[in-house]
Amino acid sequence: MRRRSFLILTAFAAALTLTGCEGVQGNAGALAFTNPLHIPPVLDPAPGPDGVKRFGLRLQEGTAELLPGKPASTWGINGDYLGPTLRAKRGDRVAMAVTNSLNEASTLHWHGMRLPAAMDGGPHQMIQPGQTWSPEWIVDQPAATTWYHPHPHGQTARHVYRGLAGMFLIDDDVALPRTYGTDDIPLIIQDKKFTPDGRLDEKSGGTFGILGDQILVNGTYAPFFQVTSQRVRFRVLNGSNAHVYNIGFTDDRTFHVVAGDGGLLEKPVAAQRFRISPGERVEIVAGFQPGEQALLKSFEGDSDVESGDFDLIKFTAAGQLTPSPELPAKLASPTPASQPTKTRTFKLGGSNINGRDMDMTRIDEVVAAGAHEIWELNNTTFAHNFHIHEVAFRVLDIDGEAPPEYMRGPKDTVFVPGKTKVRLAVEFGRHTDPKTPYMYHCHILKHEDQGMMGQFVIVKPGTEDSTSRTLPMTGHGH
Ligand code: C2O
Ligand code: CU
Ligand code: CU
Repeated sequence: MRRRSFLILTAFAAALTLTGCEGVQGNAGALAFTNPLHIPPVLDPAPGPDGVKRFGLRLQEGTAELLPGKPASTWGINGDYLGPTLRAKRGDRVAMAVTNSLNEASTLHWHGMRLPAAMDGGPHQMIQPGQTWSPEWIVDQPAATTWYHPHPHGQTARHVYRGLAGMFLIDDDVALPRTYGTDDIPLIIQDKKFTPDGRLDEKSGGTFGILGDQILVNGTYAPFFQVTSQRVRFRVLNGSNAHVYNIGFTDDRTFHVVAGDGGLLEKPVAAQRFRISPGERVEIVAGFQPGEQALLKSFEGDSDVESGDFDLIKFTAAGQLTPSPELPAKLASPTPASQPTKTRTFKLGGSNINGRDMDMTRIDEVVAAGAHEIWELNNTTFAHNFHIHEVAFRVLDIDGEAPPEYMRGPKDTVFVPGKTKVRLAVEFGRHTDPKTPYMYHCHILKHEDQGMMGQFVIVKPGTEDSTSRTLPMTGHGH
């Protein structure tokens, strides 16, 4: 009897930990890599007479051969699939005109951008079909690879999966490779499931939503990239709905990580692998020999969201390579240690935070402008990750241990493996608005849509207690 109930319990526990058999087969060894990598076009408008850089973005339906020869319905921004790479630098005044030409409401969120809440493009800034939304702000943060994607309440997974996403680069002035499309290359990595005729399969599956068995890089299937210089900077964005990649070269060569989500590391960090969960960015610089080939790959990890060995992209180096600058010894100045004034704890459940589902009318946290706080994430279940809008944070520790060196720069999104505690030192911004919240949430998009999200406002120090914890219901799609 005892043994039997033990067995039943064990089986139950195993089913819970493994959450069924959602893991996917990888594509390793199966691809020919004959498709040139698509490089998203750049939008870098000259400032107008008023000093403002104006960007025009249109969310639209399209058709793309995601699998060569098999046209599929997609969504894109100023194009059929994905969007242009936007560029600006610190101090620029930018103005966006985001037009929604889709048949349903959406939003456009600037992930990683430090800006007023009303410009953030979260679920409170819906854009109705046919409407144009025009946020404006001054770029005021260190150089970084940020990105943009829709954030409609409960619908983000589908909108991103269909193709709405792009990069937004805040330029740096360090001696790193910087010729976009030549030695400074965006790599937007997304896993996909396809129907037999090559359309996007949107059936969202189990615990984590879509885990695809095919990979697109910048929307290109089985891509190759022709390397023409000794060193190349790759800006890797995990633009997937759920998959977590453990990336390195198949020959285990050493490369250098130079930046994370929130910008440059203090110095280049030698690495052979890095892990990147949905929404995170990692910039690396890799060296190549004339005439060689190299394969970038994601190596199977230990949770469902990391399952499968995936070949990502092949690099073929030209017979003669342009000399590249040596990697600088120093990239950014160290951040002064901060004195956190408060600790908040967040229990990550199956698809909720602190036992609560997202409620657009509820303010979960009220934060003083410019505050430094410790946010402690306690994951009681399977893999999640955690993203906070408008902040820069440092990962203090993961289950009490310091994070790998390449994760020690400023970040805005972090992987939280199953049954793990992660502590963050968070630096909040200074744009106050007691009535418009920012979001924090799991960036596994199915979880986010299921309500694994909370809202915080940034207010004038001293007004925390008098700030209202409820918002008038603006209605979905207001
Ligand atoms: Cu990448 Cu709340 O978003
Ligand atoms: Cu964000
Ligand atoms: Cu999650």
